[in-house]
Amino acid sequence: MASTHAPNSSAFIRFCLILLVSTDAAAITAHHQQHFKQAPKFYNSPTCATIVPEPTDTCSDEAVHVAMTLDITYLRGSMAAIFSVLQHSSCPENVVFHFVTAASRASSSLLLNRTLSNSFPYLNFQIYPFNDLQVAGLISTSIRSALDCPLNYARNYLANLLPSCVRKIVYLDSDLVLVDDIAKLAATPLGIDNNDTVLAAPEYCNANFSAYFTPSFWSNPSLSLTFAGRRPCYFNTGVMVIDLQRWRAGDYTRKIEEWMELQKRMRIYELGSLPPFLLVFAGNIGPVDHRWNQHGLGGDNFRGLCRDLHPGPVSLLHWSGKGKPWARLDANRPCPLDALWAPYDLLQTPFALEA
Ligand SMILES: *[C@@H]1O[C@H](CO)[C@@H](O)[C@H](O)[C@H]1NC(C)=O
Ligand SMILES: *[C@@H]1O[C@H](CO)[C@@H](O)[C@H](O)[C@H]1NC(C)=O
Ligand SMILES: *[C@@H]1O[C@H](CO)[C@@H](O)[C@H](O)[C@H]1NC(C)=O
Repeated sequence: MASTHAPNSSAFIRFCLILLVSTDAAAITAHHQQHFKQAPKFYNSPTCATIVPEPTDTCSDEAVHVAMTLDITYLRGSMAAIFSVLQHSSCPENVVFHFVTAASRASSSLLLNRTLSNSFPYLNFQIYPFNDLQVAGLISTSIRSALDCPLNYARNYLANLLPSCVRKIVYLDSDLVLVDDIAKLAATPLGIDNNDTVLAAPEYCNANFSAYFTPSFWSNPSLSLTFAGRRPCYFNTGVMVIDLQRWRAGDYTRKIEEWMELQKRMRIYELGSLPPFLLVFAGNIGPVDHRWNQHGLGGDNFRGLCRDLHPGPVSLLHWSGKGKPWARLDANRPCPLDALWAPYDLLQTPFALEA
């Protein structure tokens, strides 16, 4: 039985939460020592659409809407990601950011707001508190504990968190940088020949899809038949273009939660928030060129070995996996490609402050 191999998941969740709560104070203290430089103001090129000023621009269909989670642990990554989006955008003033923070850490939301406003005084953004404690009860443990923290699951709740006037969103993880105009990614057609396309992302059909689910999943026809009539392929949930209107209409949040509930009763997968997305969407997603998610640069989940780029052009570099470029750079043990992240690092080092 799968459950005999599974660790006691509720104990692990409690561990994760205790870790979150107890590190909050420490993280905030550490954060006080983290100073970020102010990014320059980025201007629209003359051909950009003019967006009606506040407050209606939060909803503009002309804007590129970007959703990201924001927490103190990954703040340095998020700041670099935001900086990279603005720097390569031809209409940077038309990008609206929607940040999701953990509601259980209200004090850090204030800090995050202040940090963002200081480094990006002209940024058009909103902050949405996400009820992380509620989703914590739905999470079963994975092979990498960092994947188990509730904010990782916030991407499943964007349709509820964001105002209903936001129709389409580009979701981005915090461990990536763009080197191309996000408007091109946001313009990904969703459902030209298929009205039902809710989500678009680069697909990887060479990956061994079976490996994402347990033998108990595949040997149970009532479960594995969920893929009947589809050609499911792996996709990475760190970069997605989502039609929020279709998501809401199809109640996909609930569909993903149903698989998470099943996972708590019997172990059907090993990784964190990714497999429920595969269960609901794999084989039915809209195409996005691979250049928009050169993933895996963080290295493998076990040892964090350096990885190379996949062949082909690059519009987005994604340090998914165990290692993060800022941690490796700080430790003076960077992977070769970490040099491509460094120019977007806004952290003000104490040395630079003295200089
Ligand atoms: C951030 O803080 C400012 C100043 O306190 C406040 O006016 C603003 O509404 C906050 N923004 C968000 C998105 O919470
Ligand atoms: C798309 O939706 C419209 C309106 O609901 C419908 O008339 C049309 O046949 C659909 N097209 C396809 C390809 O499903
Ligand atoms: C794919 O993964 C499954 C489960 O881990 C394994 O049994 C199978 O041999 C793999 N197939 C290939 C082609 O590697």
